[in-house]
Amino acid sequence: MKNDTIAIIGAGNIGIAIAQGLKASKEYKTSNIMLCRRKLSKLQSLKKQGFVISSNNLEAARKADFIILAVQPKQLKGVIKGISEGLGKNKILISVVTGVSIAEIQSVVGPDCPVFVAMPNTAISIQRSMTCIATNNGSKAVQSRVLSMFNGMGKAIMIEENLMAAATVLGACGIAYAMRFIRATSQGGIQIGFDADVAQLITSQTVNGAASLLLMSEKHPESEIDRVTTPRGCTIEGLNEMEHEGFSSAVIKGLTSSHRKITTIA
Ligand SMILES: NC(=O)c1ccc[n+]([C@@H]2O[C@H](COP(=O)([O-])OP(=O)(O)OC[C@H]3O[C@@H](n4cnc5c(N)ncnc54)[C@H](OP(=O)(O)O)[C@@H]3O)[C@@H](O)[C@H]2O)c1
Repeated sequence: MKNDTIAIIGAGNIGIAIAQGLKASKEYKTSNIMLCRRKLSKLQSLKKQGFVISSNNLEAARKADFIILAVQPKQLKGVIKGISEGLGKNKILISVVTGVSIAEIQSVVGPDCPVFVAMPNTAISIQRSMTCIATNNGSKAVQSRVLSMFNGMGKAIMIEENLMAAATVLGACGIAYAMRFIRATSQGGIQIGFDADVAQLITSQTVNGAASLLLMSEKHPESEIDRVTTPRGCTIEGLNEMEHEGFSSAVIKGLTSSHRKITTIA
């Protein structure tokens, strides 16, 4: 167990998911994890789990080794200004806020404090996140501390900052795309005979298995598809019908549409 102290400023959806992931990783004491938001009444159940809750961002930043910013984009500059006195070269600042660049953050905090931007997804609460991380002034040693933290909550990689919008679409929005695939498949499962809960169980476990096959073997999806598609069989029949209806094209178009939207907002 590490002795690092962590402040999560903006304990909303993703902030709480990170807190839960940190707890599940068993690498940090919950008593060393401070959760900050203005409406503290919303954090009472987390306090009961051992987390420290506070509405004093600056005090939390002063005490913390890692400061994770998880507020809405429009709130970020004000929040950073409020904690800037508590920042310095011995702190590690990590923003998971969508569309705010390292340069924008550094324009407020200055060049000394190592700044990271990270894009996890909501599966971080159960240690299954894909987290993409970028920095331009974090040393290799600091990078490895940040990677170690996020690898404890799933898989984490360093990427170039200019790919952060693409990482947001593929990794964070990707949860929603995958959920919709699961939902559509379950609905098909109901039509061919299963109750809704059984259809969802079969679908979710099958998608889990498909993803695990790729993650564990590093094979190409098509080679796994070839193993399941017998000539004139039912799998290729259905798969080709999906493609005739534009399946891959719809997914790629949706993804690039999300990317267009995110890069226009930014
Ligand atoms: N949801 C995801 O899957 C995901 C994944 C990766 C990144 N992100 C990004 O993470 C950011 C937060 O998203 P979210 O969905 O977690 O939003 P959210 O649920 O609205 O959480 C934001 C939190 O910030 C708190 N807050 C606002 N002003 C504050 C202040 N001055 N001091 C301390 N806390 C403050 C709010 O609580 P109070 O009003 O009580 O202060 C709220 O709980 C967004 O930029 C989002 O794009 C989200």
